[in-house]
Amino acid sequence: MNEILPHVLELKEDDRVFEHPFLAPGMPPFELEIGCGNGRFIAARATKNPEQPYLAVERMMERLRRCSRKAANGPTGELKNLDFIRVEAGRFVRDLLPDHCVKAMYLFFPDPWPKRRHHKNRFFQREMCDTLTRIFVPGGIMYISTDHEEYFKEMYKYLSEDNRFEEIAPLIREEDEQTDFERLFLSKGDPIYHCAFQLRS
Ligand SMILES: C[S@@+](CC[C@H](N)C(=O)[O-])C[C@H]1O[C@@H](n2cnc3c(N)ncnc32)[C@H](O)[C@@H]1O
Repeated sequence: MNEILPHVLELKEDDRVFEHPFLAPGMPPFELEIGCGNGRFIAARATKNPEQPYLAVERMMERLRRCSRKAANGPTGELKNLDFIRVEAGRFVRDLLPDHCVKAMYLFFPDPWPKRRHHKNRFFQREMCDTLTRIFVPGGIMYISTDHEEYFKEMYKYLSEDNRFEEIAPLIREEDEQTDFERLFLSKGDPIYHCAFQLRS
């Protein structure tokens, strides 16, 4: 794993383990955003909660450059509690994260892959419930927002049918924590679907 920009680490295809200071003994479990785009949400969160470690996964270099700038030069200075990882998100959570290290996972406006033959590319498949059960600490929370009704219903079905999770109030974000895609859809008046599910203790 290399640091390719300030606060941005890259995992290579042959990396088999993920090592990070946030995984050191005594550290609190971290919060994780998947496909963070330009990092608007996670940087706002990390600014407000300096004691809470945050990681965010993104694969597009252009977006990671903006993320890097936000973490290196936040409104309160450098955000020491926030790092970004350049890696394929499914592989990261499924194969590289150790057990019981994540307190919350945020999935906002994931690529919907609308054509049926492309659904296999979606990040959230039914097996994701098993992965969450493995990587979450007890009480860990999965937060989802999307404009795509059909994908939303699918994710909602997987989580609501799984007795290991219970539905809780969704996270409706104030303006400063809204993602770039969220602001775009809100400006067009499009409906946005939110849900949150907590792993039972
Ligand atoms: C529709 S955008 C939403 C970005 C951000 N969450 C927002 O709401 O503004 C989806 C993001 O997920 C990233 N992404 C999609 N698939 C990914 C994958 N398999 N691994 C890592 N990042 C991925 C894309 O590069 C993109 O930035």
